[in-house]
Amino acid sequence: MSPPISSSSSASDVIDFVVHKGNGVKGLVDTGLETVPEPYIQPLEERLDPTKFQPENFIPIIDVSNWDDPKVVDSICDAASKWGFFQIVNHGVPLEVLENLKSAAHSFFQLPSEERKKYLKENSPSEAVCLCTSFSPQAEKVLEWKDFLRLSWVSEDQASAFWPPVCKEEALEYVKKVELVTKRLLEALLKRLGVKEIDKTTEYKLTASPILSLNYYPCCPSPELTAGVGRHSDVSTITILLQDDTGGLYVRGTSEDSWIHVPHVTGALVINIGDVLQIMSNDKYKSIEHRAIASRSKNRVSIPFFVNPGSDATIGPLPEVLASGETPIYKHVVFSDYFKHFFSKGHDGKKTVEFAKI
Ligand code: OGA
Ligand code: NI
Repeated sequence: MSPPISSSSSASDVIDFVVHKGNGVKGLVDTGLETVPEPYIQPLEERLDPTKFQPENFIPIIDVSNWDDPKVVDSICDAASKWGFFQIVNHGVPLEVLENLKSAAHSFFQLPSEERKKYLKENSPSEAVCLCTSFSPQAEKVLEWKDFLRLSWVSEDQASAFWPPVCKEEALEYVKKVELVTKRLLEALLKRLGVKEIDKTTEYKLTASPILSLNYYPCCPSPELTAGVGRHSDVSTITILLQDDTGGLYVRGTSEDSWIHVPHVTGALVINIGDVLQIMSNDKYKSIEHRAIASRSKNRVSIPFFVNPGSDATIGPLPEVLASGETPIYKHVVFSDYFKHFFSKGHDGKKTVEFAKI
């Protein structure tokens, strides 16, 4: 039998195999492919230019062993307003929980392709789990070199019933621990905005529908031609990202068109501000553009925990932020509309936030 995909396959054969048949980039790489197929080749202007890299030591690493220390709160809020991106260490999630989760992500993607396919949207028994590839294959011009398993947090019962057995325990353990980190971070960030206590309504707007994504970037024969994830800011309130030691995550630098590598720090979690918090804070905090690239020699995993509002929540600048008479930059939008807008196009840097601008 001839291999399903070879160097002579057409672009539509590749898309059919990866997207429609649900084999993913993982399935593509498993065919033994030696060159990057055309649907994955980024135009020159979207490729990372190594001559434009800035040094790594820009991104703050904050020790949060004492969350209540005003200096810690200051560091978090300063990093969130200046950078929108930082790492935290001594956050209370044990190293073992982090390592187990990364292994579990590898285990899922190492399942035979027929097993993985049980979680494709059309086969999945529940909205709590969905195996996807690229970002928004129907809407984007060039595909991204990435598969991901989206684990939506509806309830513990749903997660226990429907998340894949191969990664369920590890993911549940992590979510329980990381929820505490989320709470601490948001308390610090909102206090600075004049919110004395996060009540139930605000909590719903900030955190009601989190998503844990197991991102898998298989080895790529020519990563420099591709995007693992193209330039974007997250639509979340905040994102807490666990990355492995492969490297490949970059954030927008300070000089034009420059990018800064976010180094792997053992035991650290990478925090970034999402569009929702930028909107709610009326630009006090900024969601920053970032991107990721696959490796030539290692299968990379990264695991973002997207802290998202409830889908029917209305988001807009917080009354506390506008209390001093500041002009609102954003209108109020329903989060599900914002989310749909994000997926209605390919990744395009910070453009999504325009959707909510007045
Ligand atoms: C994302 C993302 C970065 C990474 O999934 O939104 O930015 O390092 N991922 O995988
Ligand atoms: Ni992101």
